[in-house]
Amino acid sequence: MPKTRLNTALRLASACVLGLSLANPAHAGEVEVLHWWTAGGEAKSAAVLADMLKARGHSWKDFAVAGGGGESAMTVLKTRAVAGTPPAAAQIKGLDIQEWAKLGFLTNLDSVAAAEQWDTLLPGVITQVMKYQGHYVAVPVNVHRVNWLWINPKALAKAGASVPTNWTEFVAAAEKLQAAGIIPLAHGGQPWQDATVFEAIALEVLGIDDYRKAFVMHDSATLKGPKMVEALTRFAQVRQFIDKNSAGRDWNLATGMLLRGEAGMQIMGDWAKGEITAAGMVPGKDILCVATPGTAGSFTFNIDSFAFFKLNSDDDQTAQRALASTILTPEFQEVFNLNKGSIPARLDSDMSKFDSCAQDSMATFKSANAEGKLVPSWSHGLATTSQVQGALYDVLTKFFNDKNADPVATADLMARAVRSAQ
Ligand code: BGC
Repeated sequence: MPKTRLNTALRLASACVLGLSLANPAHAGEVEVLHWWTAGGEAKSAAVLADMLKARGHSWKDFAVAGGGGESAMTVLKTRAVAGTPPAAAQIKGLDIQEWAKLGFLTNLDSVAAAEQWDTLLPGVITQVMKYQGHYVAVPVNVHRVNWLWINPKALAKAGASVPTNWTEFVAAAEKLQAAGIIPLAHGGQPWQDATVFEAIALEVLGIDDYRKAFVMHDSATLKGPKMVEALTRFAQVRQFIDKNSAGRDWNLATGMLLRGEAGMQIMGDWAKGEITAAGMVPGKDILCVATPGTAGSFTFNIDSFAFFKLNSDDDQTAQRALASTILTPEFQEVFNLNKGSIPARLDSDMSKFDSCAQDSMATFKSANAEGKLVPSWSHGLATTSQVQGALYDVLTKFFNDKNADPVATADLMARAVRSAQ
């Protein structure tokens, strides 16, 4: 038999053996999984993971804590961890993974990672987030792009407005929508949603380098500088484009307004696409996806991942490793991300079943990575710790809700808040 065919046969045989042993594990265990995926598209995605784990013979104990952006979930997680009963896996992101690992809570996944060659499958920008001191402690399920503007094309046409590519055009489109009696921007007044909108605006005004200086390196001069003041001034303009009932509204309800054409646009990460698909609409056609104003070619990334906690029971540890292994299979990465709106964390993924927005996202992720235009989303925990993120949330939400707030004083406050939270 030629060598390549022999290799293929061996690989197939070992895959079969592996498949059998995984489907009928000698010691079935249970994993309790904490997450905050409760909206339509999110819940469907979580169910995919539960089903695939069960197919390997283990049980899944769902621990869903509602609340977009995950703040409530993280509060509940801390309570459980302090009580000495953490779940087997929890949806933890970015720098917080390092914090949990530093405190000694997380287990080492290197054996699964080595056997399945995660270092080869995943890009460096992702693996560095999943490792603590060189060891895997978390597994990525996806990559979300945050700097998306979603547009209802029928609403836009009704208003005689065009798809905006920069701030001036965005304001022009919003004014036309308003004049036509359509809410320009679907928004939910919650701190993380305010921050998501501000992050997009700031990326256009600051540009990649100053965005990094401010939100990754926490440079005070940039945080309180003239560009930040300009970003805050634009953010203040957004107040007039949202409806009076936005306070406290969940993000998916805001997306619903967009889908029904009550609102013309929404600035939101592509988990919004999960809602579009779940509603039977076609992303890229029924609802358009374009980069937020002035950020075409740049990619604000948000990686969802599960961190794995140390457990006592051997069976549960086996189930835990099965979960970690499931997450990086091509099958899971495809089905999960088709529902979730994100793109697979594995860059070798076949994108043929994905819609045009996801294909665009994958292409932009790769080009932005190559061109230095890939930046971590601070509003979703990829650039900084939850303490700094929380401090920024507080300042920005207060600013957004106070029409008399001063952008210069607020930029100064941002710099001070970040310094004191570090
Ligand atoms: C998470 C997404 C989630 C969204 C809304 C983001 O921070 O990364 O997975 O869909 O929050 O809850």
